[in-house]
Amino acid sequence: MNPMSTLTTEQTLSTFLDFYRDQGHHRITGSSLIPPPGDPVLFTTAGMHPLTPYLEGRPHPLGRRLVNVQRCLRTSDLDEVGDPTHLTVFQMLGSWSLGDYDGPQSLRWGHRLLREGFGIEQDRLYVTVFGGDDQVGPDERSLETWTDLGVPVELTREDNWWSNGPTGPCGPDSEIFLWTGEGPPQSTPTTDPRWVEVWNHVMMRYRRHEDGSLETLRQSGIDTGMGLERLVSVLQGKSSVFESDLFEPWMRTLPGLWSLDETSLRVVCDHLRSGITVVGDGVRPSNTGRGYVLRRLVRRLLTLLWRGDPSRTLTDLPRELVEHTLDHFRQSCEVGDVRDVLDVLGGEEQRFRKLLERGRLVLSRHGYDGSLGQDDYDYLHQTHGLPRELVDGLLTETG
Ligand code: SER
Repeated sequence: MNPMSTLTTEQTLSTFLDFYRDQGHHRITGSSLIPPPGDPVLFTTAGMHPLTPYLEGRPHPLGRRLVNVQRCLRTSDLDEVGDPTHLTVFQMLGSWSLGDYDGPQSLRWGHRLLREGFGIEQDRLYVTVFGGDDQVGPDERSLETWTDLGVPVELTREDNWWSNGPTGPCGPDSEIFLWTGEGPPQSTPTTDPRWVEVWNHVMMRYRRHEDGSLETLRQSGIDTGMGLERLVSVLQGKSSVFESDLFEPWMRTLPGLWSLDETSLRVVCDHLRSGITVVGDGVRPSNTGRGYVLRRLVRRLLTLLWRGDPSRTLTDLPRELVEHTLDHFRQSCEVGDVRDVLDVLGGEEQRFRKLLERGRLVLSRHGYDGSLGQDDYDYLHQTHGLPRELVDGLLTETG
């Protein structure tokens, strides 16, 4: 695929921030991965989380036009990590209008930035727009704006409605796709994966209540979000996010350290980055909540590492990669912070290793084979602390 831009990750980030600053937006500081109290999610999964109260009407101390880069963690599609575009942890570039300009203005600026700031050719753009459902009519204004800008539009229902959870602020959105295929652009975003979604503009007009009803917000807002890592890989003409300049230190170092197939390498790299970032925001492994998400990420990557060679250890992880990750996500990377991350990952590795050893012992002592009933799983979990997932993994090992 031809590169569309020669910008590095850092230059792409500053082009975005400068563009919005020039349109009168104030930069707010990215927040932790831990959302504010009352937010329905465990981790910040979108740049707007820290802004929820302001999108619902509270005045923001920095004004009505904001821009930001926010680290986000999404573990809802873990099984897709390893493909060319999915990452669990990423930077989201965001812009907001808090009761200031409208949707068409946001789309026009978005189009200008993509065309003039990033140099994307017009024919590599396609967008989707909300086509209406039982509760809300089609988003005519977005449709008109894109048509006026000469960008083709596909109308959808569910795919073009954004919400932060079952309740809270929500509204119709318009997603921008870039053509990543070899030949001339063809087909449409919902029918061809070579159209890659890079940017979402949400018209935050409603609040969803517990009973499913929608209330129109007193002030409507705009919330846009664009994943930096995915954008950069598309702009740089790479066939996966892992090939962009941002991943260069990882892809230079990891294959020499552990020999893994391509998909496992990507998953290990991704989960290490998210593990480092989550620990960097103060989370520690545990059996519930955020700590459990961290534990699962670390154990998933160790399982892949040990499949090839059980003596592999995270104590070999170069400090440089921890520093690089904390730095990219704008987290503190003093010597002590890097040491903490390595200690926490190392400690979790030891616990997992011991648990597996105990699991193997218990399974062989009781003569368990592949056919366990619920009572067996309950016994193994309650008496020996061996979760079902782990028992199944061990049974596959021996079976
Ligand atoms: N909140 C929207 C999203 O996550 C836009 O930022 O896609």
